[in-house]
Amino acid sequence: MTFPAGFLWGAATASYQIEGGVADGGRGPSIWDTFAAADGKVLGGATGDVACDHYHRYPEDIGLLAGLGLNAYRFSVAWSRVMPDGRTTSAAGLAFYDRLVDELLRRGVVPVLTLYHWDLPQALEDDGGWPERDTAARFADYAAVVHDALGDRVNQWTTVNEPFCAAFLGYGTGAHAPGVADPDTALVAAHHLLLGHGLAMRALTAQARPGHEFSLALNFAPAIPDGSSPAHAEAARKFDGIHNRFFLDPVLGKGYPADVWADVEHHGGRFAASVRDGDTDVIAAPIDWLGVNYYAPARVTPLADPLAPGNCPLPGLRGLDVLPAPGPLTAFGWEQAPAALTDLLKWISARSGGLPLVVAENGASFVDKVVDGRVFDAARVNYFMEHLHAVHDAIRAGVDVRGYFAWSLLDNFEWAMGYTQRFGLVHVDFETQQRTVKDSGRFLGRVARANALPT
Ligand code: NOJ
Repeated sequence: MTFPAGFLWGAATASYQIEGGVADGGRGPSIWDTFAAADGKVLGGATGDVACDHYHRYPEDIGLLAGLGLNAYRFSVAWSRVMPDGRTTSAAGLAFYDRLVDELLRRGVVPVLTLYHWDLPQALEDDGGWPERDTAARFADYAAVVHDALGDRVNQWTTVNEPFCAAFLGYGTGAHAPGVADPDTALVAAHHLLLGHGLAMRALTAQARPGHEFSLALNFAPAIPDGSSPAHAEAARKFDGIHNRFFLDPVLGKGYPADVWADVEHHGGRFAASVRDGDTDVIAAPIDWLGVNYYAPARVTPLADPLAPGNCPLPGLRGLDVLPAPGPLTAFGWEQAPAALTDLLKWISARSGGLPLVVAENGASFVDKVVDGRVFDAARVNYFMEHLHAVHDAIRAGVDVRGYFAWSLLDNFEWAMGYTQRFGLVHVDFETQQRTVKDSGRFLGRVARANALPT
């Protein structure tokens, strides 16, 4: 059960979810500061003001990661730290990531840097946010600034994390910042996020150094039809189209899928108008690897009326329902379906002609308790074991998988769910900021050190 030589074994985090220190170093507000401060947007009124206080405790946190035996750390840079108004560079803001990267290298940990994990500077949202085309150009400028500052030490670069969530939850359902609920606007935002990825790829590759690798991370939800009729197959096609292929295909140089264009036509046409000549070529910039974020599949079933809105408010998704997941479930209610990860990795590999893949996020929330200084999270150990077997199966089938990142290093601010969902390898007591390594953290560290699963 050995993994390929040089396999990256890591944990992932994101700036707003862990950093806190929202006013330190001249950081400007992001859309998540605004959203979390508004009434009723985040469960329990929670905010990221303090979060895991990682801004001040990063040496301890990196020490924990390295101590476990993990060799890589996937983190994101807060745009509004580096550019408080979205446009003007702050030396003090960049200095934090300078210190973080140096600490990682000192500990022998490979930094894997994500440029955008959803915390758009509020100033840019005030100018229109992702539905505004200019935001994509601003993102490319920001990417160049961060690369210029850290490119001498960071080799692994990811542009955007989960444009699906940033666009469809941020501007489609309104469940995430900035809380806009309009499907047509969400589609335009999605296009500009992908365009931003492409423009950033141009900026990054123009100043690349030997050894640099560039990527983006997409979240996939394999669509499983809850029956075998043609109507079931059609429901699965629609879900897969807007959730998976709409983001993957343009990045692979295939443009937006024709069937999805047709599915979203009824949304008013602003999306079609936003896609200008040449945009799909920009988005098709070759990447070195694709980050695959996988949590759970979706069970879909057709509705009798193909135009009925159904229970899933994503753009284009008429005529189908997403069913409650069968067990086993995580605390979030997400289905545990490791075999779907093997199939997903094989499918992306085949569709992309063998592109190198990195599982950039995979993990589970459970109800964890510290008892006598220990977190006995057997369910999460089992989750990792099963999903790592699934990754290994894909590798044996010939898929080029280069790394696996657990979500997450620390229990943290789980967006609209506040602090109610614990995903960490390390438990965080949010009253005292006390860290306690969970059994799952030790388990993953042992696997990482052996570069193999126990047989
Ligand atoms: C995906 C996101 O990238 C991350 O920010 C989030 O916390 C996890 N999924 C769990 O929902």
